Amino acid sequence: MSEPVLEAAGLRKVYPTRAGADFTAVDQVSLTLEKGETLGIVGESGSGKTTVAKMVAGMIPVTSGETRLSGKTLAASGRSKADKRDIQYIFQDPVSSLNPRMKVRDIIAEPLKLYFKLSPKEIDARVDTLLGDVGLPLEYRLRYPKELSGGQCQRVGIARALAAEPSVIVCDEPTSALDMTIQSQILELLKDLQRSKGVSYLFIAHGLEVIYSISHRVMVMKEGKVVEEGETADIFHRPQHPYTQSLIGAIPRIQIPQFD
Ligand SMILES: Nc1ncnc2c1ncn2[C@@H]1O[C@H](COP(=O)(O)OP(=O)(O)OP(=O)(O)O)[C@@H](O)[C@H]1O
Ligand SMILES: [Mg+2]
Repeated sequence: MSEPVLEAAGLRKVYPTRAGADFTAVDQVSLTLEKGETLGIVGESGSGKTTVAKMVAGMIPVTSGETRLSGKTLAASGRSKADKRDIQYIFQDPVSSLNPRMKVRDIIAEPLKLYFKLSPKEIDARVDTLLGDVGLPLEYRLRYPKELSGGQCQRVGIARALAAEPSVIVCDEPTSALDMTIQSQILELLKDLQRSKGVSYLFIAHGLEVIYSISHRVMVMKEGKVVEEGETADIFHRPQHPYTQSLIGAIPRIQIPQFD
């Protein structure tokens, strides 16, 4: 099998507490992600999903453990510009993740300017291509985030992540703030982009329906640890761990009322 795009081994995050005793938010979490693959991460609130994602993305320092990108070990903190470019992050709240004082055009151009040597004309052309990639009309270039819907803001967030041409995008509950129809449109967009660009996703969600529809493999977290990991179909149809069984058992089944 080919080398994974991303590997994390033995990630651990300990926070000091005011009471004096340390709190272990994440303990010995390891994961792999292949090219073009989506690994879903599920688990109750506070189970450490975001902490794992942020350590992988280099946004917070690890207590111990390491992350490798295409076989290369990444610096635990102070990553190089090239390494930062290669792992992008899409946030839960699409509106507040965008600078309200910047136009859509400038938000998407920011990573282009930071990571690539491009002329203003080339940047303009790339912005237009990216807007097309995420299904936004070109005239939105001059709008501010507040002039867009939540779903449209998330499309801008996706375009900004794609602008860096990353091999991995961490999606931390990217659809939780959106209503159901918009949620499925954004999921379809992310799947299309994965097919066309071969990007890999580390995808965090509360909703198991979302995880089921987008993930190739699923990792279940509880209290900072991985309790179960496997192919999506196996996790959903043959969950082994009692915690996973309880999560799957709690998925609401649609009850269609009988009229007679
Ligand atoms: N900066 C911090 N200082 C202290 N504790 C923290 C810090 N950040 C997170 N934690 C704690 O670490 C644990 C894991 O938090 P994390 O945000 O990773 O959970 P999560 O699984 O993403 O939850 P949610 O589904 O609600 O987003 C929580 O108990 C949280 O309170
Ligand atoms: Mg979180």
